Amino acid sequence: MNLKKEILRLKQEKNALILAHNYQLPEIQDLADVVGDSLELSRIAKERSADLIVFCGVVFMAETAKVLSPQAKVLIPSLWAGCFLADTISVEDVRQLRERYPGAEFVAYVNTSAEIKAEVDICCTSANAVRVVKAIDPNKTVVFLPDRNLGMYVQKQTQRENMVIWDKGYCYVHEEIHPKDVLEKKRVFPDAEVIAHPECPPEVLELADAIASTSGMIKWAQRSDARRFIVATEREMVYRLKKELPEKEFIPVSDRAVCRTMKETTLERLYEALLEEKYEVRLPEKIISKAKRSIDRMLEVV
Ligand code: 13P
Ligand code: SF4
Repeated sequence: MNLKKEILRLKQEKNALILAHNYQLPEIQDLADVVGDSLELSRIAKERSADLIVFCGVVFMAETAKVLSPQAKVLIPSLWAGCFLADTISVEDVRQLRERYPGAEFVAYVNTSAEIKAEVDICCTSANAVRVVKAIDPNKTVVFLPDRNLGMYVQKQTQRENMVIWDKGYCYVHEEIHPKDVLEKKRVFPDAEVIAHPECPPEVLELADAIASTSGMIKWAQRSDARRFIVATEREMVYRLKKELPEKEFIPVSDRAVCRTMKETTLERLYEALLEEKYEVRLPEKIISKAKRSIDRMLEVV
């Protein structure tokens, strides 16, 4: 059986929309209707009123699609496609922080479960985190969670003193990128620009020419005069960049930067998801309406 052909046939037959994150395997990116970063995919889920959405990414992303498109049947091809970072914080943690910082504005990175989004005041993605925090009343304390590296980056950019950063959350893929990885690649390719994701540790971000969301990296590389780029994020981003800009060269910063759960989505699982319409993302109504408020507030800011 030709899996790719079968996937395309089922997609057409069922009028399904396939969304894929930039970290998905090349063969999945190639089959998707839209490939993008968290912000772009959230917007698409909201704007296109599809009946069936197959989300090739991790669970929190599929949940966001469900929250923004509750009438749609949203499928995720693997139930094991979680996000390590999203799992670093619990609802109980957020409630304890609320008690500790009454009156504060709670900002959650979208890499959180729908339950966490339902507990906070506003969401952000790596593409809009600085703008979201800047839009909050300067007299209010901001509690930022769960990614400490993104939080520190936002604090530096906004120079906001009344900002509390949850310090237990990080992404293991980005945390494992070290300054020596960047310096080693810079030694071999001295003319290359370094583009880094804000989930990287601050010492890595200090070495970067540009700090951007995954799709922000494409925009940077399009505008830049440089011919070569060292890419400090997950491995598959390089595939997306090469596809968009074949005339430029992209070098992964490290072979270790692989998000295991993003690779849960294989052609076989995508095929089975479409065929059997599994696994459906289901969320309680109350969580959908509360999480929607935080996501909608974010979408209004930018
Ligand atoms: P982007 O929103 O930049 O695509 O990031 C999502 C993510 O999970 C990064 O690890
Ligand atoms: Fe989560 Fe990190 Fe994977 Fe992004 S790369 S989905 S933050 S575990």
